[in-house]
Formats: sequence, structure tokens, C-alpha cells
Amino acid sequence: MKISVKKGKLADTKSQAIILALFEGKKKLAGVALQIDKRADGLISELIDSHDFEAKLSQISVIYSRGLLPAKRIVLVGLGKQSEFNLEKLRIAFAKVMQHLRNLNIKEAAISIDLNLIPNAKGEVAQAVAEGSLLGLYQYTPFKTVGREDLKNIEQLNIVAEEKDLSLIEATIKKVQIITQAVYFARDLVSAPGNKMTPAMLAKNAQEIATRKHVSCNVLDKAKMNELGMDLLLGVGSGSNEEPKFIILEYMGGKKDAAPIALVGKGVTFDSGGICIKSADRMNDLKTDMSGGAAVMGAIMASADLQLPLNIVGLIPATENMPSGTAYKPGDVLKSYSGKTIEIINTDAEGRLILAEALAYASKYKPAAIIDVATLTGASVIALGEDVIAMLGTDDKLKSELNKAAQKTGELVWELPLWESYHEQIKSDIADYKNYGGRAGGAITATAFLSKFVGDFPWVHLDISGPAWIDKDKPYIPKGASGVAVRLLVEFLRNRAGE
Ligand code: BES
Ligand code: ZN
Ligand code: ZN
Repeated sequence: MKISVKKGKLADTKSQAIILALFEGKKKLAGVALQIDKRADGLISELIDSHDFEAKLSQISVIYSRGLLPAKRIVLVGLGKQSEFNLEKLRIAFAKVMQHLRNLNIKEAAISIDLNLIPNAKGEVAQAVAEGSLLGLYQYTPFKTVGREDLKNIEQLNIVAEEKDLSLIEATIKKVQIITQAVYFARDLVSAPGNKMTPAMLAKNAQEIATRKHVSCNVLDKAKMNELGMDLLLGVGSGSNEEPKFIILEYMGGKKDAAPIALVGKGVTFDSGGICIKSADRMNDLKTDMSGGAAVMGAIMASADLQLPLNIVGLIPATENMPSGTAYKPGDVLKSYSGKTIEIINTDAEGRLILAEALAYASKYKPAAIIDVATLTGASVIALGEDVIAMLGTDDKLKSELNKAAQKTGELVWELPLWESYHEQIKSDIADYKNYGGRAGGAITATAFLSKFVGDFPWVHLDISGPAWIDKDKPYIPKGASGVAVRLLVEFLRNRAGE
């Protein structure tokens, strides 16, 4: 959907549908709604007075203007009670109304944004309206061949605004388009089936990001990994016919000598469990095991397009995890890039192995911070539920920055502890560490394992196993790949950049 910003009044706008967002329980119309109600002979107030439309959150009513206005329809959407209102509700309401219009096969709509819906948050209000509208309309259709002509889409959204608000809205919309494009990009990567989104294809997508200014991409192949001694990544990849790739994306938008922020993303393009093979019903969604890598790629894409004055390096170890005669096995001992040795207990605990290589590699950059994003453990979903990102790490400031960003973007982040005592569970009898410490505290002991490879840099781990893929529609996340953590990382980076 294209968005254009124009000077004008909604009441005078010719459109298939003009959208009005209203609070619940307000007796009197005001502002733009009042203007339109007057022009439309009280059609809106009649609907409200008769309680047909109560403006409950996401409630929608479509009124035909029958020539009283240039617009063919007036579409009301409820924002719920003003006392309970926030940016998340605004995203939800606009996602729902856009989906409703798309279902009616409407191709073009117009809105005006009341920037004072929330006091002192003009930019955020405009951002939430546009984000909700765009994110809710996502569809993944490249493999649909039957009935393609019936696919519906809103092509154009016109935002009409007063002169004084134009520049703020225009600037905000530009940013939102960049950010939502990055979310769409990540959702596309994750939605793509495992037979299409192989490690090589993931690398190819990273190389396409590097067509941007200040971005470069370097993909290490098997021979190079051998040379570097990345045996954990090679080991996980050893059961597959697809070559593993170590993807390095660098965005140098900051000062030349400024320490970069390292983003590390798990890129398992299919996780069968390997020799410790998963049961069929648990393997179903595991093309999504590169969601962390996709989020990192999306965040770097957006940072480059936003021209953030930062240096950022993205490290994405990419591989399949498959069983075969050449696959790594329980009991094997592998030496990591860092030099530390690992006893393999469970080949399905592969994420921490490949992340270990990337986290150790990150030290090369002397990063200002390291954030890794991964669909690492089913245990994080057992602990916190399907909707929540588990956060663990060693640096309180970094954690609080991520918490702050999450509060803005509506992504749910909750911290789990990483106390010393958990490290006992990953000690090995014959090697330095083992890759599985039992079921108890599984999300935490996996992170304890990662911590051994981080070095002395501020570090946070985000486990997105729950929210990366959703089975039921949410208002602005259609079921499937959510693109979770893209907006979180971008918000964090924008804050770091002082925006
Ligand atoms: N990628 C999975 C975790 C996962 C499962 C994420 C389902 C999203 C949805 C990870 O590699 C894995 O298999 N973890 C195992 C670890 C265990 C066998 C040590 C798990 O959590 O069950
Ligand atoms: Zn696994
Ligand atoms: Zn996995």
C-alpha cells in the first residue's frame, strides 16, 4: 500500500472511504468528526445516539454518504475508552479498519490523523496509525497460483492534514515506510519454505541488502569456516546437503572509529533436530528457525535506509540441522572458533552451538554492545508463553534500553535471571562445556552456554521462540511470521543514535 500525505480536509476529500477514529463514551462529536457529521446531515451522530456504534476498540461501521460528501463511504472505527488508550490500541484499531476495507475490496482510502490523541506524542501517534495500517495488511502469496486474481489489496492511502502538521506527518510516514518494509522483509524470509530459504538463499538476501550505501556483505563458505576453526557451525551443518554459510553484514553509517553494535541472529533454515530428531508434529514450523537472523537482517536494512549515524555489524550463522550418515552425533566433542571444546548431548540444541561461533567472532569488532536474537528454546515458551520475548544478559543498562524500546513498539519483553548457579548444569565431564543441561531452566541454561563465548562486552540475548511465528491472527500480525524484534531493534538503534 502506498501512502501519500496531502494538505486538505477530510470532509472535502474525494475517496472510496474516509476513516474516522472515535473514542468510546463521548457524548459529543468534535473536530473533524463534527465537521463531517454536519456535512452528512447527522448520519454519524444518529448512529452513535442509537448505540449502533459505541466506538469500542476495533468496532467498525460503514456509512454511505449518498452524495452528501465527496467521499463515497464514511468508515467509523472505535478506539475504546480514552482513559485506557495507548499507542498499541491505535495500531490495533487502524490494522482492523484497513483489513475491513480490504475485505470490501476497497482500493483506496483517506484518513486524517488527530495528532493530539495522546498528549505530547504527535510523532508517535502518526507512527502508530501508519504502522498498524501497514503491518496488518501483510500477506504472503508468492506460492498461491490458483485464484490470484481474487487477492485483495488496498493500493493507496491518502493522509490529509492541515498545513501546520504536514512536515511532521511526512517525515514520520517516511520512517514508518522504511521500518515496516524491513518487517515485511523479515516476515517474507521467515514465511519462505525451507526448500527455498536455504542458507545460500539467506546469504543472497543479505547480499541484496548490501546494495545500499555504507553496507557491505561478506559470506564465509565452508572452506573459510574450516580455516577459522568454526567446527560448531560446521558440525551442525554436517548432516545437510546444503552448505552452511556465515553471513557478515556491516553497516558503517557512524564515525569511522566508533565501536559498532553487534547484532547476532540464529539462521537455522530448517531444524529437524538432527540425529536427535524431532517428532513430526514438533517439526512442522521449524522453517522459522532463522527468525532471529531475519530480524537482524531487517534491522540492518532499516538502519541503512534511515541512515542512522551508527556502525552496526550483523552476524548470521546459517545452516540446516539434518540427520544423515555424516551428521554430528550425541557424544561427539567439537572445538569452537573460540578454542573452547563442547560435548554434544543433544543435536537438537544446535542454536547455541552456531551462536557460540558468531558471539566469539563478534569480539573481533570490540563492539559497544552485542545483542543476539534467536528461536533458541521451547523452554522459553513454556516459561513465558507464546507472545513473549525472553531477555537475559549481563548488562543492566543494555537491558533497560531494550525494555524501553519494547514499551514503545508493543513487543512484549520479560527478563529471566542468569545467576551463577545455572552454569553448573552445562559443565561437561570430558570437554569444557556440554550443549544441553537438562529440562530444568532450559531457556536459562542455554543462555548460560552462550555467555561462555561473549567476552567482556555488554550483551543481551533475546529468545523469540514464542512470538516469531503465530498460529492465530493478531490485529497487526496476521498469522504466520511476525517479524518480531525488527521494530524492537530499530527502536533501540534509533535511541542509540539519539533520534
Ligand atoms: N529451534 C528450537 C527451539 C524452538 C522450537 C523454537 C520450536 C521455536 C519453536 C531449538 O533448536 C530446539 O530444538 N530446542 C530444543 C532444545 C532441547 C532439545 C535441548 C527444545 O527447546 O526443545
Ligand atoms: Zn533444535
Ligand atoms: Zn533450532
